Amino acid sequence: MAIDHHNHTSPIHGVSSLRVLPDEGGTRSWDRIIVDETIKSRLLSHALLALAHEKEFYALPGALQRLVILTGPPGTGKTTLAAGLAEIVALELADKGDTCLVEVNPHTLPSEMLGESQRNVARLLDNSLPELSLRFPHVVVIIDEVESFAVRRSSASFEANPIDVHRASDAVLEGMDRLMKRCPNVLVVATTNFASAIDEAFTSRADLVLPLTIPDPETSAKIIALSLNELAGIWTDIGELASNTVLHRQLAEACAGWDGRQLRRLPLKALSGRKELALNPGKLRSEDLFIATSV
Ligand SMILES: Nc1ncnc2c1ncn2[C@@H]1O[C@H](COP(=O)(O)OP(=O)(O)O)[C@@H](O)[C@H]1O
Ligand SMILES: [Mg+2]
Repeated sequence: MAIDHHNHTSPIHGVSSLRVLPDEGGTRSWDRIIVDETIKSRLLSHALLALAHEKEFYALPGALQRLVILTGPPGTGKTTLAAGLAEIVALELADKGDTCLVEVNPHTLPSEMLGESQRNVARLLDNSLPELSLRFPHVVVIIDEVESFAVRRSSASFEANPIDVHRASDAVLEGMDRLMKRCPNVLVVATTNFASAIDEAFTSRADLVLPLTIPDPETSAKIIALSLNELAGIWTDIGELASNTVLHRQLAEACAGWDGRQLRRLPLKALSGRKELALNPGKLRSEDLFIATSV
């Protein structure tokens, strides 16, 4: 199997990208998601426990589940944080060898996953991932929007043939069990927008289910500050707005209920609000940011 270290595209069915870490990006994704520190520290500790002591836990089957689930509404940073976890784990474990990050996105293949479900899932979990786990000391697999196939069996309300949904979800669960037994150096991070739609049989296989939420005002202010600081790195005139913590808090209040993605984009939204700003972003004023909170 060929891995393109530059292009990150993958020839494996159902895999949207492959990255060998650590890479020049460092811990970019990890650092750019602002959540309660306890969430990051629990996530990192669990991943390190699982991956740094694979031999010990291999001797204790069932003691530690190498599945972590991130739940929460869209735009709360689940996918980015999962990738960020792989980045920081790769750095922490770098002296023991590389980490391969595999992103599986069942959502991009619904018809195939549901139609030919068993065969595709089995190929991925029984062949491709074990093969990668032989080639890399550590493997982090992100199964993004896992609800696409792990739908709660009692409430499968898909347009698709429910029998296919059940088969797909059974195939995933059984395949994951085989993968976990065979490959002690693999950690699976699953994300889902709909915690309640996920199969109980799936969540019961995870030692760690972490809910991400719409940011509180304090976190929102930090996310806005992060975006402004990034822009100030390019247009230095924005520096004053970027360091004005009172402004960040006021903006956060005006953006109550916004998700992380919307908050992150607030300054860009402001820049695209006026032609003069679009041409000269350094002219951004606090009024522009307040206007962007209400349009
Ligand atoms: N808590 C957060 N802190 C900083 N940025 C965030 C946060 N949540 C979301 N974002 C921004 O929104 C983008 C999309 O987030 P994503 O990881 O795709 O969310 P999800 O997978 O939960 O839908 C991220 O790349 C990031 O720029
Ligand atoms: Mg996502």
